[in-house]
Amino acid sequence: MFTDELIPLLENGNITNKAKAVLPGKTVTSFVTGTRRLYDFIDDNTAIAFHPSDFVNDPRVIARNDKVVAINAALQVDLTGQVCADSLGYRFYSGIGGQVDFIRGAAMSRGGKPIVAVRSTAANGSISRIVHCLDEGAGVVTSRGDVHYVVTEYGIAYLHGKTIRERALALISIAHPDFRRELLEFVKKKQYVYEDEQVWQQALDRYPKELEEQKLFGKKRLLVRPLKATDERALQEFFYSHSPETIYNRYFGPKQQLAHLEAAKLCCVDYQSRMALAVFEQEDENVEKIVAVARYAANPRSNMAETAVVVHEDYRRLGMARYLLAQLERHAKGQGIKGFQAEILSGNEAMLAYHRRLGHPLTYSRESDTYTVEFDFER
Ligand SMILES: CC(C)(COP(=O)(O)OP(=O)(O)OC[C@H]1O[C@@H](n2cnc3c(N)ncnc32)[C@H](O)[C@@H]1OP(=O)(O)O)[C@@H](O)C(=O)NCCC(=O)NCCS
Repeated sequence: MFTDELIPLLENGNITNKAKAVLPGKTVTSFVTGTRRLYDFIDDNTAIAFHPSDFVNDPRVIARNDKVVAINAALQVDLTGQVCADSLGYRFYSGIGGQVDFIRGAAMSRGGKPIVAVRSTAANGSISRIVHCLDEGAGVVTSRGDVHYVVTEYGIAYLHGKTIRERALALISIAHPDFRRELLEFVKKKQYVYEDEQVWQQALDRYPKELEEQKLFGKKRLLVRPLKATDERALQEFFYSHSPETIYNRYFGPKQQLAHLEAAKLCCVDYQSRMALAVFEQEDENVEKIVAVARYAANPRSNMAETAVVVHEDYRRLGMARYLLAQLERHAKGQGIKGFQAEILSGNEAMLAYHRRLGHPLTYSRESDTYTVEFDFER
């Protein structure tokens, strides 16, 4: 559909249609609707090409263009990723339009992004649009098999290829904070997520987005951000990428697995007394791979926090550990934590050298082959 809103974009040169593989230079549409100005604009305009919907909306035609971004609105999205876009319950609101065609076309386009964009609430904030199930009578326009990105004002949930549990957690994390608790209770009751699920509302609400940043390490610009509940799988994959030596230095002995419960606890930090920052590399279009994690956990009695850090073997000596720990120190100070301590194997020269070069006076204590190294932020 071509509407009035497109006119200034074309007139100002924001849309040039130059990069298209199909009908380059042309704005392609199957119908227009709008004001007199619109009809005057298209009249005799050779840059506008009308074609029937079975061509314009054919996903195979859409996919012949690279990097197609299809942004579609929705009325409700359920926690498995089913998208309703045409009715409010039994009451039909619109047709299905080209939603599925463009979602599929963008999914097939090289570098394409199929996006469902939805406000987190409706009716002045009284209704969540991310729902535990679609209203009675509502139909599915985009299926959970076709959905890729769902975006609200609270962030992005990437759902394609994900389990029901991962989808539910990702969607709850972009629902309006007022509705997250009841959505979480629902998915626990229905066993979409483990009963022991460690996601708590506070953590979701407190996520310090301001700590997200792109940072150059060596030649790569990578994403640094706090861990979230939805990073559990990525954290497990990071763990399974460690060499035995890395595992030994981090866990002080052999460790075969990082099962759900432990991984969930490691991801679900409260961003205050327990905090974790990670470096992510975009592995492909849609997969973020963790390459480093640093964390602290405060002891409320001593007000000191214990730190731990691991950097993937391929990303060492790029300053990641130093950077993450410095960021954690800054954050910890803001939480009223007094200092850091770390348990380090006596043979872990890298970690010992890191501490020696910190510039803080250190206190060492040693038990068999493990040092506890401690420093106060203010000294
Ligand atoms: C220790 C570890 C976290 C360092 O990560 P990193 O990102 O490579 O470290 P950085 O590049 O930030 O280096 C920080 C400092 O550590 C020291 N360091 C790091 N690697 C070193 C090495 N191989 N030999 C000696 N010193 C080393 C240096 O002082 C370095 O500062 P500099 O480069 O200014 O000299 C990483 O080697 C690792 O993950 N090891 C396995 C897990 C582990 O030991 N964790 C700590 C448990 S307590």
